[in-house]
Amino acid sequence: MEIIQEQEKMVSLPRIGDKAPEFKAVTTQGEVNFPHDYQGEWVILFSHPADFTPVCTSEFITFAHLENKFKNANCNLIGLSIDGLYSHIAWLRTIKEKIEFRGMKNIEVKFPLIEDISMEVAKKYGMIQPGESKTKAVRAVFFIDPKGFIRALIYYPLSLGRNFDEIYRALIAMQTADKFSIATPADWYPGDDVIVSPAGSCSVAEERMTNTDGLDCEDWFFCTKKLDKDTVLSDVLKN
Ligand code: BEZ
Repeated sequence: MEIIQEQEKMVSLPRIGDKAPEFKAVTTQGEVNFPHDYQGEWVILFSHPADFTPVCTSEFITFAHLENKFKNANCNLIGLSIDGLYSHIAWLRTIKEKIEFRGMKNIEVKFPLIEDISMEVAKKYGMIQPGESKTKAVRAVFFIDPKGFIRALIYYPLSLGRNFDEIYRALIAMQTADKFSIATPADWYPGDDVIVSPAGSCSVAEERMTNTDGLDCEDWFFCTKKLDKDTVLSDVLKN
């Protein structure tokens, strides 16, 4: 019974719509008070299994390469693994000095990397999934909005490197949904049509089928409208 309870504690997952669990931690960029330090901005908190491992190295190079793109979308990055600070520092130095991945080299990881030897943060965020590993964090990605709420989460197993196009796409899609009060359909990218909220009454349903001004309705419950790329990007991107 105790073992089951302990395992459940390890896999307790914060959910979409929850306040991001708070913590203070040591990182490669100094101490962090999470999520308070990021108030007013988006932040992606992500975990990786271990320093000095190849998939994680490819991911760190990619994230660091894209950091400015995320910053332009008002979004900060912060990583975590169950390793100590000196291991983190040594790994990031090695990445900069020695590792090239897909033409990216001399890459300096400037975003903070949390030391979490105690697994305190990893457990709070359900990053330890014992069926996969009891000692290494899975590849979790938490999207946390400017008010400190969890808006999306993606989990990958140890062997699967993340798709950074999707991480960026999801961020821009959520920011666009907030800004324009719309939803985004499957495989949406800026410039594609967006979904207007479903008709909430019979009269609106009728109107959707008769007066489709500015809307493209397949049926009363499925209407899209144009939202051009420049409008989306100029509203969500800083420059
Ligand atoms: C990697 O990052 O290469 C890795 C880490 C843990 C298990 C498998 C692969």
